[in-house]
Amino acid sequence: DKFQVLVCGGGNGAHVMAGLAAAKPDIEARVLTLFADEADQWSESLKTNDLTVLVKGSDGQPDTAIKSKPSMVSKKPEEVVPGCKMIIIVVPAFAHNLYLEAIKPYVDPKCIILGVPGPSFDHAVRGILGEKADTVFIFETLPWACRIKEYGKEVEVLGSKETVLVAIQGSLSTAPIGPMGKSPVETLQYVLGAAPVLHLAGHPLCITLMATPTLHSAIMYGTWTNWDGKPLDKIPLFYQGVNETTAQLISDLSDENLKVTKGIKRKRPDVDLSQVKHVYDWFMTRYTNDVQDKSSLKTVLQTNNAYAGLKHSMLEVEPGKFVPDFSHRYISEDIPFGLVVTRGVAEVAGIETPIMDKILLWAQEKLGKEFLVNGKMQGKDIYSTQCPQAYGLKTLDEVLGH
Ligand code: NAI
Repeated sequence: DKFQVLVCGGGNGAHVMAGLAAAKPDIEARVLTLFADEADQWSESLKTNDLTVLVKGSDGQPDTAIKSKPSMVSKKPEEVVPGCKMIIIVVPAFAHNLYLEAIKPYVDPKCIILGVPGPSFDHAVRGILGEKADTVFIFETLPWACRIKEYGKEVEVLGSKETVLVAIQGSLSTAPIGPMGKSPVETLQYVLGAAPVLHLAGHPLCITLMATPTLHSAIMYGTWTNWDGKPLDKIPLFYQGVNETTAQLISDLSDENLKVTKGIKRKRPDVDLSQVKHVYDWFMTRYTNDVQDKSSLKTVLQTNNAYAGLKHSMLEVEPGKFVPDFSHRYISEDIPFGLVVTRGVAEVAGIETPIMDKILLWAQEKLGKEFLVNGKMQGKDIYSTQCPQAYGLKTLDEVLGH
C-alpha cells in the first residue's frame, strides 16, 4: 500500500515536488492543477514520457536526472483528492485559496495540508477548511530555484536552499505516517533528499514573523519613498545599495516584529515563538559564511556574497532610463503575504505597529490597493491577502489555531 500524496499546482515548483515524490517507491504522487489546460497538457505528456527532474550539479559535479511518473494529473479534485493523506500545495500564494476551496469537499479529515511556500498559509487553511483542517504544515520558502524546460516532461533544479524553516501544527504533527513510518517532516525530508535540510520552527506564526518579506518591504520603502519620480540612469543595487537610514528602518521594523512576538507570548506563553529572531541575528545564522563585515546590519547587507550584484527590479521607460517596478514580487507578494499578515496579527493581539503602518500605507498606494484603512485591516482588498481578517479570524485563539 503506497502513501498517497497530492501535489496541487502546475508550475515550476509543482513539477519538482511531483517528480521527487513520485520517484519514491512507497509513495503514489498525484497532481491537481486547475489552471488553464495544464492538466491536459501534463497528462498528454505522461502518456509517452517520464517526468524528469534534472538537478544541476554544483561545484563541477555532474547533473542528476530523476525520472518518475505521477499516477494521475487532473483538474478535477473529485478524481484525485479522495484517499490522499497528504496534500502539498505548491503555487504562488495568491492561488492558495483557490486550491483549498477546490479540495474542501473531498479532503480526508485526517489529512496533512502542506503549503510550499507558505508563510501564513495556516490562516488560509483554518479560514477555508475550518473543522476539516487537522494538520497544517508550512515551508517558509520554495526549496529550489527551478524552471520548467518542457511542460509535464522536464524541470530543471538550478539550486537548492541549504536549509528551510518549516512548522507543523495539528494532531498528526509527529505521528508516523504511511508505510515509511516517518513523521510528516521526516517524510518531506525523504522526498527532498539531502538538500535542503528542514529545520522545525515551533508555531507556524514564527515563519510569518521571520525576516524576508519584512526585509524586502523595508528596502523598497527606504529606497523609493523619497524618489522624485524622475527616471534614473542606473539601476541601484538592492541589498548593497542600502544606506544608514534604510538599514535603521529594517532594524526598527524587525524590532516591531519582536514586539508583536513578545506581546503574543505574554498572552499565550504556551505558543512556541522562540525562533523569531531580529533580522541581524537571522543573517548571522543564515549567511554566516557569506558575510564579510558583520559590524552592523548595514555592512551585513552590503558585504553578503549571496547578495552581490543583485539589483532593484526596474522598467526601462526609454533607452538607458529606468523607473522602479512596483509590480515586482518584493511588493506585490511580500506586502499581501508578508507585511499585511503581520500587521493583521498585531491588530488581533492589540499591539501598535507605527513602522509597519507607515510602510504599508506607502506600499498599498503603489499597488493601488486598500488594506489598512483608518488604522484597521478593513480595506476592500484584504480578501486577496492572508491576513487573519481576510478569513474572519478575530481572536488570538482563532489566529493561533487553538
Ligand atoms: P510558477 O511561476 O511556476 O507558478 C505558475 C503556476 O501557478 C502556473 O503554472 C499555474 O499552475 C499556477 N497559476 C498561475 N496563475 C494562476 C491563476 N490565475 N489561477 C490558478 N493558478 C494559477 O511558480 P513557481 O516557480 O512554482 O513558484 C511558486 C512560488 O515560489 C512563487 O510564489 C514564487 O515566487 C516562489 N519562488 C519560486 C522560485 C523558483 O525558482 N521557481 C524561487 C523562489 C521562490
